[in-house]
Amino acid sequence: MSTEEFDEEKFREEKAALEQSEETGEVKKKGNITIHDLPGIGPATAEKLTAVGFGTVMAIAVATPGEIVEATGISEPGARKIINAARTNLDMGFESGDQVMKKRERVTKISTGHKGFDAMMAGGFETGAITEIYAEFGAGKTQVGHILAVNAVAADIDNNPVVFYVDTENTFRPERIKQLAEAKGLDADKVLKCIKVGRAYNSDHQMLLVEKVEEMINEQQMNVKLIVVDSLTAHFRAEFVGRGTLAERQQKINKHMHNLLKIADTQNICVYVTNQVMSKPDQFFGDPTQAIGGHIVGHASTFRIYLRKGKKGSRVAKLVDSPNLPEAEVAFYVTEGGLQDV
Ligand code: GTP
Ligand code: MG
Repeated sequence: MSTEEFDEEKFREEKAALEQSEETGEVKKKGNITIHDLPGIGPATAEKLTAVGFGTVMAIAVATPGEIVEATGISEPGARKIINAARTNLDMGFESGDQVMKKRERVTKISTGHKGFDAMMAGGFETGAITEIYAEFGAGKTQVGHILAVNAVAADIDNNPVVFYVDTENTFRPERIKQLAEAKGLDADKVLKCIKVGRAYNSDHQMLLVEKVEEMINEQQMNVKLIVVDSLTAHFRAEFVGRGTLAERQQKINKHMHNLLKIADTQNICVYVTNQVMSKPDQFFGDPTQAIGGHIVGHASTFRIYLRKGKKGSRVAKLVDSPNLPEAEVAFYVTEGGLQDV
């Protein structure tokens, strides 16, 4: 949006009218509505909302008033009216179990390329959810990210699939994508074109990149399959050191996770995040490691997998938390062509 073209005066008029307006109910229109159909949203307001990433009724419906106020300059009562209008028209109340079941039908799975691993996940990593792998260094978290990226593209290669890869540790390797794609008999250049890599230089940048993804999805009709955030926690861990900073760190990670969950849920996209472990010196029994980010990350992740090094260079993935699948373990090797049976 260029500032010359944007009609500030019109926007001010619309803002004032919005504040004066009564709460309104349902839009009398069948089928899909756009933000232009919502009461109280004039053309200049619609343009403003779209420019800052609130271009769809869904994006507005799941926003908080504070987010709208901050992004647009609309007053809080105005923002509330807009959000209420979006919610009324999206029918965001309770759904019956069979309706939820119907929604679950749109869920697809992204294959890990390994039968046992896929079986443990009931077919693969789910869309509409966040799957977290936490593990020590060199366990294979980044490898799984590359494998999922290739398999996500492969599953829908003729429909311009898109994978967003937020790389915080500079470990994304196009050569590795090429190798994995070629092992599957795919056109490696075509696969590479579908993967959009964002290198995050610090935690704020990382959060911004995810917000940018949401904006891009709302503005352009993209066929996004997967978002990888590798690593979810490394920047936060490095930047917020010392006891006094813990609360702020957790708050930021919480917001970041909820942004990711919102995108996953509203757009039916698979989100894969990686996480480090730290040693728990007071733990005498079992595995003396625990994931970074504590309960915040654990609760926001739909599926949690603990990956560890096994015998003879193998890797063991254990599903430790899932809403609908039993705890289970699977072992494999990371090889040139992907994951292989032990
Ligand atoms: P950190 O990011 O350091 O926490 O580790 P990580 O869990 O992301 O580990 P990563 O996915 O980078 O795994 C590294 C391991 O994967 C290496 O030690 C290798 O065992 C294996 N690996 C990586 N690339 C290849 C490859 O091209 N061929 C084979 N056979 N193994 C590979
Ligand atoms: Mg890594």
